[in-house]
Amino acid sequence: MIIVKTISELKETLKQYNDKSIGFVPTMGALHDGHISLIRRARHENDIVVVSIFVNPTQFLAGEDLDKYPRKDEVDKKICELAKVDVLFMPNINDMYGDDEVKILAPSVKGYILEGFIRPGHFDGVLRVVCKLFNLVKPTNAYFGKKDAQQLVLIQQMVKDLFMDINIVPCELIRDSDGLALSSRNVYLSHEERQKALAISKSLKSAAKKIGMGELDVSVLQSLMSDVMCELDVEYIAFMDREFNKIEKIEIKNTIILVAARLGVTRLIDNIWI
Ligand code: PAF
Repeated sequence: MIIVKTISELKETLKQYNDKSIGFVPTMGALHDGHISLIRRARHENDIVVVSIFVNPTQFLAGEDLDKYPRKDEVDKKICELAKVDVLFMPNINDMYGDDEVKILAPSVKGYILEGFIRPGHFDGVLRVVCKLFNLVKPTNAYFGKKDAQQLVLIQQMVKDLFMDINIVPCELIRDSDGLALSSRNVYLSHEERQKALAISKSLKSAAKKIGMGELDVSVLQSLMSDVMCELDVEYIAFMDREFNKIEKIEIKNTIILVAARLGVTRLIDNIWI
């Protein structure tokens, strides 16, 4: 595995893979099994696998956890090596950003609802850095987890709207054995908060079960889920189609149910694709 830190090193390294398919997994590090599953899939489907680790400041709002976001560079390098990554790109902030730059804005509706409503501007920062990374790596396929469903949908839209010739591969959400969706931010949870947080995946599971029994009315499912999460500080329960339009009735194979909740200082998001 080659570890590169600068853009010129990255360009030089990628030159040799001109005619090869490149699978790209952009991350902010603190890699867990969710990331590893993306890397494995990229490994399986491409000649070359590039992973980036960059804690992107422009997607954090003032007062969010940028400074304490978990950084585990040495462990991450080992994980990437074991997962047979070819190139690990770990740029620093000055390489990625300059002053008074051209910017990318998330769409004004889909980028500013749900996560984008609670974290206004977050998706501008996500799209800005992903666009830069795509331009640098020029991947054939880029891998994103369904856990960040809104991010995934917006990246798919960016690729389409900006005519980028990149295939976005949505990958399954990975859960711990107790059902909690894997996230680098889970390390912030106390034991008690973690136990309480299990209500999130339980609520999604109970909604899916009810849908399986024929219940398609969103308001019924929403109140069922609220009951399961009655001890949590729930920010939203949302029912969207796969292009992120709000729906009133479940559309089988075209619905995402999303939840965001706060456990102490930690925000957790989770979802299920129906
Ligand atoms: O999902 C993430 O880890 C980040 O939002 C991403 C896509 C790497 C952009 O910084």
